[in-house]
Amino acid sequence: MIHTRIKELLNSTDFGKTVIVKGWIKTFRNNQFLAINDGSCLGNIQVVIDYENTDERTLKRLTTGAAVSVEGVLIESLGKGQRVEVKASQISILGDSDPEKFPLQPKKHSLEFLREIAHLRFRTNTFNAVFKVRNALSFAVHRFFNERGFVYIHTPIITGSDAEGAGEMFKVTTLDLDNPPRNDDGSINFKEDFFGKSTNLTVSGQLEGELAALAFGNIYTFGPTFRAENSNTTRHLAEFWMIEPEMAFYELKDNMDLAEELLKHVIRYALDTCSEELEFLKNRLQEEEKSKPQTERSELDLLAKLNFCLDNDFERLTYTEAIDILRRSKPNQKKQFKYLIEEWGADLQSEHERYLVEKHFKKPVILTDYPADIKAFYMRMNEPDEQGRKTVRAMDILFPGIGEIVGGSQREERYDLLVNRMKEMHIPIEDMNWFLDTRQFGSVPHSGFGLGFERLVLFVTGMTNIRDVIPFPRTPNNAEF
Ligand code: 4AD
Ligand code: MG
Repeated sequence: MIHTRIKELLNSTDFGKTVIVKGWIKTFRNNQFLAINDGSCLGNIQVVIDYENTDERTLKRLTTGAAVSVEGVLIESLGKGQRVEVKASQISILGDSDPEKFPLQPKKHSLEFLREIAHLRFRTNTFNAVFKVRNALSFAVHRFFNERGFVYIHTPIITGSDAEGAGEMFKVTTLDLDNPPRNDDGSINFKEDFFGKSTNLTVSGQLEGELAALAFGNIYTFGPTFRAENSNTTRHLAEFWMIEPEMAFYELKDNMDLAEELLKHVIRYALDTCSEELEFLKNRLQEEEKSKPQTERSELDLLAKLNFCLDNDFERLTYTEAIDILRRSKPNQKKQFKYLIEEWGADLQSEHERYLVEKHFKKPVILTDYPADIKAFYMRMNEPDEQGRKTVRAMDILFPGIGEIVGGSQREERYDLLVNRMKEMHIPIEDMNWFLDTRQFGSVPHSGFGLGFERLVLFVTGMTNIRDVIPFPRTPNNAEF
């Protein structure tokens, strides 16, 4: 007989039926009541043991963390706190867990401590909930695009190009680092490397995505990306997952509409399918915020925040309009920003993004038309404004508590302008013929964006550190497991 998952048992009314439960012991009280969890849901099933007829050796081995298989009858529970329970007739231990050594005890552990034992934190309620929500969001992303006829494209992970031109890449090599082959000028000779050239882990699948969009029309990628930026913050990972749709014939407004629709779709899906997990995470956040001063606590609870996001249009404005708001803002006037906004052209820091979203508009914001100087080479150039200032058709979506969650743009489809800009920005044109070909053979207006998946999971779960929404985070000085 196959075992039944606990999620199913907790909803069952098949009283009197013999069932098998398999899972891990959370607690064992009074030599009689086992709480067992199998990961199928947050809830545990209570198993009642006939301790008088169970040998002492077995009772001793029923410790927190041990894996067991229980056969018994499903009954209506007499006790408080659960509707059903299993009256055990047979119990066997599948895997012992030494209570002296098992680090997860039935008490609250700090998230920092759990990060150190990330291999075991899956077994806690918090991480069960987080990764179930992550799973639901991931599925919802695929569903969203599939329903709209987008083609899922797998772009390469090893690449010779730097899509963002920011030079924050991890090198991929099989050369002997102690004794690399060298050119006459002393530089490393990558012709002798595995690929016969210098290669890196990708920072984005966009450029290859563009190639596919100019054949399929609408495509998306959803894969891991890698950035060797030394940002030790609660919003940055060195390895993160990104969703990058790319659409031929889309202009900036169409791009913004799609991004807003995608975000709302996946948040709604999580609300619809993860109510137990989100309720748990809402309470967890409330608990966590109790130790903070009133002013730092969220105004809305997690569920209210998610629903608010669904019910309101995102605010859309240009960078230039945003700079005006920021320049006149209280924290700027009172010199409370770390980086004061003085000149048009300054890059926005997360303190500015969060002011706009959390204090000024109090809802998600889409900023467009950034100064060309602070954005990537592939963004479409606008006509200069009356003052001759150059902007590009960029769009960043800013979310409360997160800052930038989406970065995208309409692409520069005009060959000459693109080549000029690449030259200006020292992008190696010789290596990018394949990219420029799209602008030579049937070039069309097109647009796309990148949604940082962990930042999305962070927002939906209400967790506060990005290291807690990916199973095994990679950050500066940390690549455990
Ligand atoms: O703004 P970014 O750098 O844009 C791109 O990579 C474009 N090629 C996307 C495109 O147009 N197809 O990154 C996109 C998003 C950011 O808005 C952020 O959510 C996330 O990726 N992101 C990170 N997430 C976690 N850790 C990091 N180090 C991140 N860097 C970017
Ligand atoms: Mg960006």
